[in-house]
Amino acid sequence: MATTGGGGGAAATSVVVLDRGNNTTCTINLHGATVVSWRVNNQEQLFVSKLASFDGKKAIRGGIPFVFPQFGPWSFGAQHGFARITRWNLERPPERLHNGDVEAIFSLMDNEFTRSMWNYQFRITYRLILREKELHFHIGVYNPSKELTMTFNLLLHTYLKVPDVRRCQITGLHGCTFMDKTRNDAMYQEGREVVTVNEWTDRIYQHTPQEHIITNVVSGRKMRIHKYNFPDTVIWNPWIDKAREIGDFGDDEFPNMLCVEAGHVSSPVILLPGTAFEASQILQIIIEGNVSRKTKRNR
Ligand code: BG6
Repeated sequence: MATTGGGGGAAATSVVVLDRGNNTTCTINLHGATVVSWRVNNQEQLFVSKLASFDGKKAIRGGIPFVFPQFGPWSFGAQHGFARITRWNLERPPERLHNGDVEAIFSLMDNEFTRSMWNYQFRITYRLILREKELHFHIGVYNPSKELTMTFNLLLHTYLKVPDVRRCQITGLHGCTFMDKTRNDAMYQEGREVVTVNEWTDRIYQHTPQEHIITNVVSGRKMRIHKYNFPDTVIWNPWIDKAREIGDFGDDEFPNMLCVEAGHVSSPVILLPGTAFEASQILQIIIEGNVSRKTKRNR
């Protein structure tokens, strides 16, 4: 549960480790409060590119970057906003809870750098809880201004590690409207019961349900994403040609990642002065034995 320098040489970035025992850990890089590793019984669940940069400047390519206050290109600054390229504070170091889970809290406030792009005061708290087979994310965004209403996007850019993306299925998108960024932002309705990824995919699904299940993640298991106050789900994989265009992404890495991103992006969050917005996400590895026991009980 230590904070250490990371990235080699002068510590351009530093990391915080939540350790639940049993080789179950979560590592957060203070650069962007990016979750860069989630190991469950020593098995890594998140994809981080072998070409990811840890220079404390560029966004980290992989893990779970924190996207705020803008999703996508931005006339005021870098794509996907500044939160993923700003150093966050460790508000509360990792602490073991009575049930053995481990919690840490990170925070980000406006500063000269953020105000140079977006002239608003804000305070974000980001609470992570590592459980045996789950990782919980609780986000609070507070607008301390007495007069100004702020509008923003928020998204957790989760890169799941998968053995072969072509074998993954994503539930919960049937019937949802989506914007297809690979087809000039045209709008469609999803007709498939489960979504599969077999080509360059970049879609913003709107008004998605609170839960998605993704099959064939690490070790052929299923991952549940449970989200609250995140109305959108972005599905992204750059595939062959786009992968080549991304400098910090290996040409051969696209089969081993799938981004399933819970966000509030197709419409902005509108936050009145003196109020707060809260959203959360739970990533849960589904252990088949548990699911069938539960199903049996429910019959
Ligand atoms: C996704 C976007 O969320 O992130 C894609 O929908 C984008 O359009 C991708 O290409 C990666 O973005 P970046 O800025 O990390 O290269």
